[in-house]
Amino acid sequence: MKRIGVLTSGGDSPGMNAAIRAVVRCGIDAGMEVWGIERGFEGLLDGELRQMDRSSVGDILHRGGTILKTARSERFMSPSWIDKGTELLNTFGIEGLVVIGGDGSLHGGLELAQRGITVMGLPGTIDNDLGYTDFTIGFDTAVSTVLEAVSKIRDTSSAHDRTSVIEVMGRHCGDIALYAGVTGGAECVLLPEKEEDINKVCRKIIEGSNRGKLHSIIIKAEGTKTPGDELVKIIEERTGKETKLIVLSYLQRGGSPTMNDRLLATLCGEKAVRLLCEESESKAIGISDGHIVAYDLKEALKMPGIFNQEMYELIDVLSK
Ligand code: F6P
Repeated sequence: MKRIGVLTSGGDSPGMNAAIRAVVRCGIDAGMEVWGIERGFEGLLDGELRQMDRSSVGDILHRGGTILKTARSERFMSPSWIDKGTELLNTFGIEGLVVIGGDGSLHGGLELAQRGITVMGLPGTIDNDLGYTDFTIGFDTAVSTVLEAVSKIRDTSSAHDRTSVIEVMGRHCGDIALYAGVTGGAECVLLPEKEEDINKVCRKIIEGSNRGKLHSIIIKAEGTKTPGDELVKIIEERTGKETKLIVLSYLQRGGSPTMNDRLLATLCGEKAVRLLCEESESKAIGISDGHIVAYDLKEALKMPGIFNQEMYELIDVLSK
């Protein structure tokens, strides 16, 4: 394979730049031309491609966002536009494509794979919602950002004897809330994977207060049923405690990637290039039990995530 492409798609995540850097530098090292496609599948359809050299990815390893920019492409949902994208890749002589993104982006990659392009999917999303990999690129940084916020909120929450409901991202997946809950010392977490039990949340707050706790931290994933503003009202009514809602929102997607995210991105990027050199079939690359793994792209996207029940239960034990 002589010419490959790389793009980032969907919501950006810290570590995407580290992945681009690895793909470009490993690709050039293997004697390939590497072309960067701007704004994901949108940029592909608009022909926004440029050849990358080693220095084009200099000084980006530590930066959040993505130097290739990203987009959510409506057009790429329709078969005729996907055909057009395939045609453009063929015209540019790009035989292999590295797609860095979440579930929707890797499904976009699968469409191209089914039209003859070799696609390597890298799990780039803060949500950690891809079942085939233990962790996604950006998740570790997002949770670290949430933890920083939790510590600060805890200070002011204690000073005022308040309850804080902190809403975090994750779309339909509760992993950001779950991991931040365990490592940030939350009283309770509310996750889309679990039946919402507001009574239990209130009970935990009251129990904590009776033991002399000055604050209560509740971490709520954005995908849960009751909207944050309604939830704080219910908690205030039932506990009699002043309760504030803090929505962390896009703050979680920015920032310099942690060591874990840089390493995962770099190792996945290197693996993608190696597989392209070996003329492999299309794959989804990720990490399982500490090892970089590559599964058939179509099969990988069907693999269900495993909910970490033990971690969920541990939150209750630790916050007693
Ligand atoms: O998938 C990443 C993510 O940040 C989700 O956690 C969130 O639900 C969504 O993207 C927000 O999307 P947008 O950037 O399109 O507002």
